[in-house]
Amino acid sequence: MSSLPDAKLLPEADSSVLQIWGGHPLRGHIKVSGAKNSALVLMAGALLCSEDCRIRNVPLLADVERMGQVLSALGVSLERNGDILDINARDFSTSKAPYELVTQLRASFFAIGAILARLGVAQMPLPGGCAIGARPVDLHVRGLQAMGAEVQIEHGICNAHVLSSDGRLKGAKIYLDSPSVGATETLMMAATLADGETILDNAAREPEVVDLANFCNSMGAKIQGAGTSTITIQGVRKLHSTDYTVIPDRIEAGTFLVAGAITRSDLLLSPVVPEHLLPVIFKLQEMGVPIVEEAPNSLRILPADTLKAADIETLPHPGFPTDMQAPFMALLAVAEGDSLINETVFENRLRHASELNRLGADIRVKGNIAFVRGVPLLSGAPVLGSDLRAAAALVVAGLAASGKTTIKGLQFLDRGYDRLDLKLQQVGAKIQRLGETGTDAELIENGNNSASVST
Ligand code: EPU
Repeated sequence: MSSLPDAKLLPEADSSVLQIWGGHPLRGHIKVSGAKNSALVLMAGALLCSEDCRIRNVPLLADVERMGQVLSALGVSLERNGDILDINARDFSTSKAPYELVTQLRASFFAIGAILARLGVAQMPLPGGCAIGARPVDLHVRGLQAMGAEVQIEHGICNAHVLSSDGRLKGAKIYLDSPSVGATETLMMAATLADGETILDNAAREPEVVDLANFCNSMGAKIQGAGTSTITIQGVRKLHSTDYTVIPDRIEAGTFLVAGAITRSDLLLSPVVPEHLLPVIFKLQEMGVPIVEEAPNSLRILPADTLKAADIETLPHPGFPTDMQAPFMALLAVAEGDSLINETVFENRLRHASELNRLGADIRVKGNIAFVRGVPLLSGAPVLGSDLRAAAALVVAGLAASGKTTIKGLQFLDRGYDRLDLKLQQVGAKIQRLGETGTDAELIENGNNSASVST
């Protein structure tokens, strides 16, 4: 297995571009990083404990770096060594999170539950809307209120404090109107140190929710039922130190599967948890893509004879993940026949369709539905990623398009994909990160395309 340069996060992400020469099959092994959406929320969960927390398999991402800055601003000490992150929240005493950081990173808002549980008071700027939808926080707020916090939103800040004289939140029975991942995580963290039992009904069932519960339990929390719609938490007074490993990133793995499918490649991915990827694996198989589980923690994708059209409806887990919708749109764009994509989780997450059309796709969008008419071939063009998964979709499309695709918007890509370009280079993709518009051909990172490929 090859190793990736332990590069610092690319500082030029705003102005850099990815240049891809498409049409080359990929071959070899790709190492899947730790899950972004687990790592971020585990970092928030570390606030619950005043002893050392070691988190392993932390991906190298701009979002992780920003979350670290949020924790530092709260008085927490952090030290990163490769993919190991040591966090100690003994001196955590600041209840006000910095506006500039929280507004850049929704996951940082989820820390409100842990801050309130530890300090009895929290001031958290609203994370704001973003490119994929309004993303309100009403479910987080109502849940915290049910647990005995007074919560008021004023001047863009969510001010919360615990009403009881002992400063502890109270266990409560909470029904979530929709199974929000973030609200489930916020409330689970809050309930961990609350007085009494909390029952979260209609809770999110995503693997990252389970990972957070396992992490908290490894510190002595009493959480049962994570991964089902009903999570029961018996509050405890104190948590102890832990050494915990983040689960593999199912969305990163899914993106590589789609990259393999669109380029008709032979790729081996590990580590993965195949159960976390079931909707993605079944959809790819429905499209005619052979996928085999080579070992309990690895998946192999083989070239398809033909790619068949398929319909997709995004749903909360265990349904088809909204985070995979954009990469799949790129794949369906070159499948034989017509496909329909219904995005039901976020109200504005189809903006990549117009950029894919720039590459020669035939996609029409009406409301939250995209009609994809498969075309035989995409052709390279300059395109712009409007959010993290949109940017990933354009990378996937660029790998299959004829000629050169130049992708802007890497500040989004680097939020959630750990050195995506370098990992793709290692399996033979002709992909380079260039400074500015790409015309000056200033190479920021250049992996060795052939020597590092392993099968
Ligand atoms: N919602 C509300 N009120 C709330 C919370 C959510 O109406 O208080 C709505 C949202 O507006 C949305 C739906 O509920 O329409 C689902 O949102 P959810 O809360 O489940 O999403 P999230 O917690 O904000 C996480 C991931 C997203 C992923 C979604 C859905 C993190 C940091 N983010 O967001 O990841 O798409 O769950 O699985 O965990 C990504 O990685 O690209 C990404 C956007």
